[in-house]
Amino acid sequence: MPRKIIIDTDPGQDDAAAILLALASPDELELLGITTVAGNVPLDLTTKNAQMVCEVAKRPDVKIFAGCDRPLAHTLVTAEHVHGKTGLDGPPLPNPKMPVQDQHGVDFIIDTLRHEPPGTVTICPLGPLTNIGTALQKAPDIADRIQEIVLMGGAYFQVGNITPAAEFNIYVDPEAADIVFKSGAPIVVMPLDVTHKVLVTQARLDAFRALGTHVGRMVAGWTEFFERFDKEKYGSAGAPLHDPTTIAYLLRPDLFSGRHINVEIETGSKLTRGMTVADWWRVTDRPANATFMGDVDADGFFELLTERMARL
Ligand code: RIB
Ligand code: CA
Repeated sequence: MPRKIIIDTDPGQDDAAAILLALASPDELELLGITTVAGNVPLDLTTKNAQMVCEVAKRPDVKIFAGCDRPLAHTLVTAEHVHGKTGLDGPPLPNPKMPVQDQHGVDFIIDTLRHEPPGTVTICPLGPLTNIGTALQKAPDIADRIQEIVLMGGAYFQVGNITPAAEFNIYVDPEAADIVFKSGAPIVVMPLDVTHKVLVTQARLDAFRALGTHVGRMVAGWTEFFERFDKEKYGSAGAPLHDPTTIAYLLRPDLFSGRHINVEIETGSKLTRGMTVADWWRVTDRPANATFMGDVDADGFFELLTERMARL
C-alpha cells in the first residue's frame, strides 16, 4: 500500500529533484497533491515552477494548489541569488499548460487530513512552513491526524545559510515553524547537517547526465545552475541537494541517522531569528518533539536518486 503524501514546496531546483523522486516512486508513494508556498521566489513563480516540474515528468495530472504568498509575520525574503530570478534557472522550459487547482493550498491540506483516515497522510514541507503553520492555526484538529511531517529545514552543527544563525526555510517564516514544532505532530527534520553531506560532485552530476533522458539532463542542468552559489560560498565539491533527502527518507529511512530531541525555534531575536535550537546533547529537560537527522549515507542517497530518475 503506497504511503500517502502531500509535498509542500517552493521550487527551487532541489525541490524539483524531490518532486521527481516522489513521482518516480509510485509503488511506495501516492502523491495526493502539491501545495506551493512563497519562498525561494514569490508564489506565482513557485507555482509555475511546480507545474513545469510535473510536465518534465509527463505528469500533468498531478494536483497543484497555490498556498500562502507571504510569511505569517515578516515580509517575504526570497533567494534569487541561489535559484535565479525564475527560481528554476537552468535549462530552458516551455510555459506550463497543466492546470492549477482552484482550492487554496491550506484548505487542501486541511480537507485532505480531515477526509483521509487519521495517521495515514504524511506532509513533506520543502520550503518555508507558512502553509503548514496556517493550516494548524485554522484547523487545530488536524495536528493529531498527521502521520508524520518530514521537512527540510534548520541546522545545528551547520548553523545557518541565510544568516549566521538560521537556515533559509525556517528563517523566512519562524512563526509558522514555531507552530509546527509545537503542534505535537511527529516530525522528522532534514537539516543542513545532513544536506551539506549530499553534495552533487562532478561524478554524481555526470551520472545524472549519463541517464541520457530528458529528466536526467534537466536534473543535471538544474544542479549545475544551483551549485555555483554553494561552491563559491562553501568551496564545496558541489551543490547540497537539500530537499530530495525528505523523499529519500520515506523510501529508505536506513540511509539516515539522527536523534529524537527537543527542537525549538527562535522567533524573538533579530540576530538569531529562525534558529533551530536543537538540544542535540540533551542538556535540558525540554521534551523531545522531533527526530533531528545528523548523518546520511551519501553514496546510497545518490544511487537511489539516480536509479529512480532513470524510471521517468
Ligand atoms: O536552505 C535550503 C532550503 O531553502 C531548500 O529547501 C531550498 O530549496 C531553499 O528553499
Ligand atoms: Ca525548497
